[in-house]
Amino acid sequence: MIEELAGLERQALAAVREAKDGGALERVRVRYLGRREGLVSGLLRKLGTIDPADRPAAGAAANRTRKTLEKALDERSRELAALAEADPAHVDLTLPARRKWRGTIHPVSRVVDDIWAIFRSLGFTRARGPEVDTEWYNFVALNTPLDHPAADEQDTLYLAPGLLLRSHTSPVQIRTMERYPPPIRIVAPGMVYRRDTYDATHTPAFAQIEGLVVDEGVTFVDLKATLAEFGRRFWGPGTEVRFRPSFFPFTEPSAEVDVKRVIVRDDGSRETTDWIEVMGAGMVDPAVLENVGYDSERYTGWAFGMGPARAAMLRHGVSDLRLFYENDMRFLRQFA
Ligand code: DAH
Repeated sequence: MIEELAGLERQALAAVREAKDGGALERVRVRYLGRREGLVSGLLRKLGTIDPADRPAAGAAANRTRKTLEKALDERSRELAALAEADPAHVDLTLPARRKWRGTIHPVSRVVDDIWAIFRSLGFTRARGPEVDTEWYNFVALNTPLDHPAADEQDTLYLAPGLLLRSHTSPVQIRTMERYPPPIRIVAPGMVYRRDTYDATHTPAFAQIEGLVVDEGVTFVDLKATLAEFGRRFWGPGTEVRFRPSFFPFTEPSAEVDVKRVIVRDDGSRETTDWIEVMGAGMVDPAVLENVGYDSERYTGWAFGMGPARAAMLRHGVSDLRLFYENDMRFLRQFA
């Protein structure tokens, strides 16, 4: 019986090696180890018919053969799987690809980029200024007296007497005019800082974009026409733009700019929003022009300031400003 077993084992191992796929391998397994028809199992059933003295040795040999075959089947099965994976004919092209992780542009940066692209096409250049600035640039040169509430320590983050974190991007107006003679046409994006409560519409650090135009013969008509054109390009062709009288120390007259947007849904239906305030603007106060040595009899100008994060909130229907500044990847990943 032991010789018989050895013969079966040799045969079975050869069959395992020759099996070309999982199906063939399974047939080999059934042929030798199958519970009812298997050749090895058949031999084991005959154990009861042999001399009792020979039974233990024969039983042990049969078990060894079974283990050897199981191991060989297992190895061949893994080998076949590896071969199948390497074979281009077995690549499943319908499986979803593995996603590569990659960074994306922050939604507020994207708004800044879009705003910048529009003004660049209208002949503007880009300017920048320091985030740590002085009372002169942040307030005084902008015609804002230091006893104005905005200059109060309640509202502005002072670093030292006279030195502060800029509370708006308007000081870039002054720094640009100091360095260059008219004509001026700039936009200046950057971070600004305020001692504000941290809630759904306020954060102590946020982005702004400043705009400034100075030239001979510049009027409120230029301001209205340019900002209305900007509004239609940024918010969509159906956008209405409204100018409401307001007050800023550095502009006279001053205006608050509202837009009424037309939202077109995926199904083609349209909805018109309420008026939404999107920026402050106005004609540069002659006192500001004089502060940088410009001749305010000869030159006039207009300016605007707006918050790109607010524009991002409106664009994406996000109701909490803080989400744009907390940089939680679960939030930001949605804008990939
Ligand atoms: N600096 C103003 C603010 O932070 C915004 C602003 C209003 C800027 C009118 C301007 C302007 O240039 O003309 O609230």
